Amino acid sequence: MEHHDTRRYPEPLAIEARGLVKDFDGFRAVDGIDFSVPTGSIYGVLGPNGSGKTTTINMLATISKPTAGCAKVFGYDTQTQAHIVRQLIGLTGQFASIDESLSAQENLMLFGRLLGLSAAEAKKRAADLLEEFALTTVAKRPIAKFSGGMRRRLDLAVSLISQPPLIFLDEPTTGLDPRTRIQMWETIERLVSKGATVLLTTQYLDEADHLADKVMVLDRGKVVADGTPDELKASVGSASVQLSLEAASDFAAAAQILERVLAVQVMTVDASTLRASTPGTHKVIDALLALGEAGIPIAEINVQKPTLDEVFFALTGKAPEGERAEGDNGDSAGGAGKPGSASGAGSWGGMGKPRTAAHAAEVSKVAHADKRVKGERS
Ligand SMILES: Nc1ncnc2c1ncn2[C@@H]1O[C@H](COP(=O)(O)OP(=O)(O)O)[C@@H](O)[C@H]1O
Ligand SMILES: [Mg+2]
Repeated sequence: MEHHDTRRYPEPLAIEARGLVKDFDGFRAVDGIDFSVPTGSIYGVLGPNGSGKTTTINMLATISKPTAGCAKVFGYDTQTQAHIVRQLIGLTGQFASIDESLSAQENLMLFGRLLGLSAAEAKKRAADLLEEFALTTVAKRPIAKFSGGMRRRLDLAVSLISQPPLIFLDEPTTGLDPRTRIQMWETIERLVSKGATVLLTTQYLDEADHLADKVMVLDRGKVVADGTPDELKASVGSASVQLSLEAASDFAAAAQILERVLAVQVMTVDASTLRASTPGTHKVIDALLALGEAGIPIAEINVQKPTLDEVFFALTGKAPEGERAEGDNGDSAGGAGKPGSASGAGSWGGMGKPRTAAHAAEVSKVAHADKRVKGERS
């Protein structure tokens, strides 16, 4: 490439990372990561708390120095050309640069001015971003009165003032209610449709599935899988079923039947509870019929979309070992009380008991699917 005009991005790769490593006092938080992100795409980094997502972003965003390895952003080295890289990225997430005492509009104008815009330009840019993020009606309200979703949108708006071509979004929807989460997804899709490249971290398989063109799965600083969301899901199945047996003595027989009908390995939740991924709910019905024929009584059934737990199990044959919100199998690798470990938004700990509140709904879903299957067959 002859020209290095930072306003146009001829590089096909927005990010290219090779052998990235980060040690903290002998603890290896990121353990040799390689990946590349084509310009104009959404790349998802999927992993539990403590798997190294933020540490990876911080190295790419020139906030922290890799212990080993290197990374390029639009062809610029994050260590030797950090000043250029910083002009090409927007970073939002786990720090709040927002001034509480100012309104959303004032914050946006302040940052615009700090970035060198004229007063008129800063005002225009603030108005555009307030509109884009549906914050116009609350533009003058004190930030202290903002909801979590509004704050998150403002945080993202602030990071977009300079119109960076590469945007890092660190768990942009963790802790958001479902409606605000969908809004955030739409915003992210809009950014990409306008030409931005997004690197997004998440603990939610469905989020990576919905948004990302490519995904890598991190576990304790290592990449345990990468590919398209479809490839990832193909290794997991489209649903996950959890069965509680009335008698623990039926466990082995039930596990055998499930493995035969579903053609997957069955996870043990406890002495009388099994869990397995399935290619679809119709298979669950087949499994229930087979269990019924074998005279195995079932106390509870729970069918849900696969979670990151299932991805990890499918990929590694075990539950993730990052920092865990609920350390019920006592083998978690991380130390206790690390910052951020309490922020778990509840996507974790999915190996626990079925939520009884959701039970009725899940059972009715199965019954519904049952009817449909029967209808198809008759
Ligand atoms: N500044 C730091 N000093 C020491 N350990 C850290 C530091 N930052 C992160 N870690 C540790 O590195 C690991 C990865 O952390 P992080 O990248 O924040 O994970 P994630 O963002 O996936 O939750 C965790 O075990 C975390 O406690
Ligand atoms: Mg993090």
